Amino acid sequence: MIAIGSDHGGFELKQKIIEHLRDRGIEVRDFGVFNTDRADYPDVALEAAVSVSSGESEKGILICGTGIGISIAANKVPGIRAALCCDCYMARMSREHNNANILALGERVTGAGLAFDIIDTWLAAAFKGGRHKARIDKISNIEKHFVSGTE
Ligand code: RB5
Repeated sequence: MIAIGSDHGGFELKQKIIEHLRDRGIEVRDFGVFNTDRADYPDVALEAAVSVSSGESEKGILICGTGIGISIAANKVPGIRAALCCDCYMARMSREHNNANILALGERVTGAGLAFDIIDTWLAAAFKGGRHKARIDKISNIEKHFVSGTE
């Protein structure tokens, strides 16, 4: 299952992405928002990111106006590696090298057609492990240090 969420700045693109994913037979859980009323992106980022970090959702897609705020917020949740991607190369590399578990997009930056290609590329790509795993482990250690103060 893919967790999906947006603020008002990403609402229209979120709706199109949900349709795109469901057309491909992919199960989606929509964490809102459900209209274009002004909303705070950290609220949706938190709920969708916890769904991913807990394992309830396999991956997540978050959208705000630029993709910046919602990715910053999601990355505060332990275990989350949210990657803001503006093209297919970034999308592929964020999976192969960074093992990103959330893809962030900006509705005011990326058109729907390109967003669909970015999503398809991101979902098809796999983490390569090896030397990249050691780097991801170092990121986890930074997180552990500041969350628990023990490392
Ligand atoms: C909302 O106006 C906008 O600030 C938000 O969608 C996002 O772009 C923040 O990073």
